[in-house]
Amino acid sequence: MSLLAVRDLSKRFGGVKALAGVTFTVEPGQVLGIIGPNGAGKTTLLNCISGLTRPDAGDIRWDDRSISGMPAYRIARLGIGRTFQIVRPFPSMTVRENTAMGGLFGRPDGRLQPAAALKAADEVIDLVGLGEKRHHAVLRLTVPDRKRLEVARALAMHPRLLLLDEVMAGLNQVEVEQALTMVRRVQEGGVTIVLIEHVMSVIVGVCTHALVLNFGRTLIEGPPAEVLNDPRVIEAYLGERYARRQQPPPAPPSKGDGNAQA
Ligand SMILES: Nc1ncnc2c1ncn2[C@@H]1O[C@H](COP(=O)(O)OP(=O)(O)OP(=O)(O)O)[C@@H](O)[C@H]1O
Ligand SMILES: [Mg+2]
Repeated sequence: MSLLAVRDLSKRFGGVKALAGVTFTVEPGQVLGIIGPNGAGKTTLLNCISGLTRPDAGDIRWDDRSISGMPAYRIARLGIGRTFQIVRPFPSMTVRENTAMGGLFGRPDGRLQPAAALKAADEVIDLVGLGEKRHHAVLRLTVPDRKRLEVARALAMHPRLLLLDEVMAGLNQVEVEQALTMVRRVQEGGVTIVLIEHVMSVIVGVCTHALVLNFGRTLIEGPPAEVLNDPRVIEAYLGERYARRQQPPPAPPSKGDGNAQA
C-alpha cells in the first residue's frame, strides 16, 4: 500500500488551472523530487497535500484514508510535516523556541510538554546544522539558515512524510552538499520525503524518483537520470543550455526557459 496516493487532483484560481488532474503515489522510504517551470503548480500541490489549500477535485489518500480537504492541523498530526517556500518563523523567538513549536503543536503522538519539546528541538537543530545558533534570534539568521530552521521545525513534529518546498534555493555549492547530507540522514531515520527543487544536482544527488509538473499536469515521472534526459523535460523546463552542459553532443533545439540550475 502506498504511503500517499494523489489521484486526479485539480485546483483552479480564477482562470488559472494550477493543477489539472495530477496523479502519483509515494511509497515508504522514497525521496520524490518534484520539478517544473515557475507556476507549474508545485507549491499548490504541496499546499493541497498539507491541507492549506482545498482541492477542487480529485483525492489524496494517506495510509489509504482520504485526507482531501482536511484542515492543516489535523493533517500535520497524522504525520505530514512541511516547510514553506516563503519562510515563516516566529520573529520574536529564538531558533530553539521556533523549532520547539513543531513538538508543542504538531506531533502525531500528542503534544509535548514545553521542556520535552525543547529537548526534542535540540536533536533536530543539530541535524540541520544550526547547533551553534540555537539561541540566536531568528531575525539574525541568514536566508539559508532560515530555510534550515524551516526543516528543523517540520522535523520536530516527527513526521513520517516530510514535504520540502525549495529549501536549497540560494545555497552555495558547499551548503547544498550539507543540505543533501541532511536529507539523506532524515531519510535514513525512516522519513519519506517529497521535495521541490530547481537545483538539478539535488534531484540527481538525493532523489529516488522524479516527477515533472508542467501547466498543472504530470509531464513525466521515473528515475531522476531518465527524467532529466527526456527531450520533453528539456523542452519544457531545463532548456538547451542545461542539456548541452550535461551531455555533449548537442541536444535538439528547445524552447525551455532554462530557469533550472545544474
Ligand atoms: N492563492 C493563489 N491565488 C491565485 N493564484 C494562485 C494562488 N496560488 C497559486 N496561484 C497560481 O497558480 C499557479 C501555480 O502556482 P504555484 O505557486 O503552485 O507554482 P510553482 O510551481 O510552485 O512555481 P514556483 O517554481 O515559481 O514556486 C500560478 O499561475 C500561480 O500564479
Ligand atoms: Mg513554488
